[in-house]
Amino acid sequence: MDVLDPAIFADGDLELTGRLVQASNATFFCELTSAAGVVSCVYKPVRGERPLWDFPDGTLAQREVAAYRISALAGFDLVPATVLVDGPMGPGSLQAWIDVDDDADPVVDLVRSGRTPEGWFDVVDGLDVHERPVTVIHRDDPQLRRMALFDALINNADRKGAHILLDEHGRIWAVDHGVSLHVQDKLRTVLWGWAGAPLTEEETALVAGACSAADALDDLVTAAERAAFETRCERLLTDGTFPLPPGTWPSIPWPPL
Ligand SMILES: Nc1ncnc2c1ncn2[C@@H]1O[C@H](COP(=O)(O)OP(=O)(O)O)[C@@H](O)[C@H]1O
Ligand SMILES: [Mg+2]
Repeated sequence: MDVLDPAIFADGDLELTGRLVQASNATFFCELTSAAGVVSCVYKPVRGERPLWDFPDGTLAQREVAAYRISALAGFDLVPATVLVDGPMGPGSLQAWIDVDDDADPVVDLVRSGRTPEGWFDVVDGLDVHERPVTVIHRDDPQLRRMALFDALINNADRKGAHILLDEHGRIWAVDHGVSLHVQDKLRTVLWGWAGAPLTEEETALVAGACSAADALDDLVTAAERAAFETRCERLLTDGTFPLPPGTWPSIPWPPL
């Protein structure tokens, strides 16, 4: 089964089988049964969205789908297939489930300051509950670098460790894009390792691909949000570098893991 292909959701019956307790919104694990077989997925009904002060109510499901379309059309291929559905609890987003490898080493971590292993970036320093200095770190990995670029494009306000999944093939997946594509710059991520780095040719092509995917957002976000997305694409092409955090400290989500 190709979890990148939205055709896996065709003509199925959706049955809720569990609720994801670590989720901040009403987020359900479910199974979709069709002639093609059974597909595990995540259903997020609009009705279960927790209101946020900075995002318009009832729009997170559309942002989930918009992020998937950009990922697919530009060739990032980081977000599992995501579509809008009218499910058992009304309209919402439906996303293919990724079987994570529970034994995989983390790609985002917290270590005692000064103990960053080789091949990792420091993100931000802090103090733990015992007032000991700790540092949030992430791996120097090409898949994460692609995700950092994707987040800059979609203006992701919540790229924490829990939204980065590793499957059994060592492939890295991006989930939870409900708070993306705002008109104001809100990039909050743990993946700051490449801030200011020049874009490679391949990365420039991905950004150009994203620019051409803007039409696919028209039924999902406002005209102003689409325009802001296009401006971000153009700015990345003009700058030719990964964005820098706006202040002296990186903007990181809370909690970061
Ligand atoms: N498509 C998916 N495949 C596998 N696990 C997922 C998927 N989507 C979410 N999860 C898991 O469920 C958790 C909660 O989902 P998330 O999308 O973050 O919900 P919320 O929007 O409520 O925060 C994630 O941190 C992740 O561990
Ligand atoms: Mg989440």
